[in-house]
Amino acid sequence: MQKSKIITVAPSFAEDAKASPSAAICATQLSFEYAAGTARSVKALDRIDLTIFKGEFVSILGPSGCGKSTLLYIIGGFIPYTSGTLDVCGKPVKGPGPDRGIVFQQFALFPWKTVLQNVLYGLEQRRMPRAERLERAHHFIRLVQLDGFESHFPAQLSGGMRQRAALARTLAVDPDILLMDEPFGALDAQTRSILQNQLLDIWRDTKKTIVFVTHDVREAVYLSQRVVLMSKRPGRIKEIIDTDLPDKGDLTGGVEFNKSVDYIWNNVRNEYGGANE
Ligand SMILES: Nc1ncnc2c1ncn2[C@@H]1O[C@H](COP(=O)(O)OP(=O)(O)OP(=O)(O)O)[C@@H](O)[C@H]1O
Ligand SMILES: [Mg+2]
Repeated sequence: MQKSKIITVAPSFAEDAKASPSAAICATQLSFEYAAGTARSVKALDRIDLTIFKGEFVSILGPSGCGKSTLLYIIGGFIPYTSGTLDVCGKPVKGPGPDRGIVFQQFALFPWKTVLQNVLYGLEQRRMPRAERLERAHHFIRLVQLDGFESHFPAQLSGGMRQRAALARTLAVDPDILLMDEPFGALDAQTRSILQNQLLDIWRDTKKTIVFVTHDVREAVYLSQRVVLMSKRPGRIKEIIDTDLPDKGDLTGGVEFNKSVDYIWNNVRNEYGGANE
């Protein structure tokens, strides 16, 4: 089988990229341990070198427990990193910021707020006239095709609608970087496919940088320009594969698309099959 184009991850590449104004996220030798120094410590990430450029769509694939969510939450500034460096747009990450929006693995809407109130919530932190906030919230509700459901509570929505509401809430704040943690994992195949295409449209229109965690190889290749493969815990970067292919058409894809899916499957099989260290 012909191999997809592989970019070898080398610290020198990360160092060069760090200085590049086009780097959105640059991690060098980033390691992380939960409950460090205690008997319950868990080493989640091990010397991650990763650069993601502005406007890129990058997926992260790896076995359960390998540290994908941890990496995303560290980039989001929700977990302070303790070892290595992490820059977002050239500045070290010191905590969460409006430049980074996160869509969580589980639906994370306030159950006591309506769709509109949930979307408005993020905007309330921003100093903006009420009329402008409302206009913005409605715009993003329309963008994810939830118009007509502004007054519904999350419990009155389907899973796909809830995830779209969460996406609208994140997009409304207009972050440069969207961090998405298995956002479509709990959805049926049809809803998932619709949302994948909506997300691609939003990405093309807004030119945001997207980091997308998934367990679905086909989804990763379809959506992203590069796929980052992580090893089982403690998560290391095993390989980065260029998936900016011309023949993606749809999820069934063409020859190059399917070659890439097969190549990644063959590479992750061992990681998925093995037990955690
Ligand atoms: N709050 C925490 N305290 C201690 N250990 C944690 C905590 N959160 C995660 N871990 C551990 O860190 C490792 C990485 O977890 P993480 O949630 O990042 O994995 P993941 O790759 O996102 O997995 P999944 O695909 O199942 O979502 C796991 O072994 C997990 O047990
Ligand atoms: Mg996770």
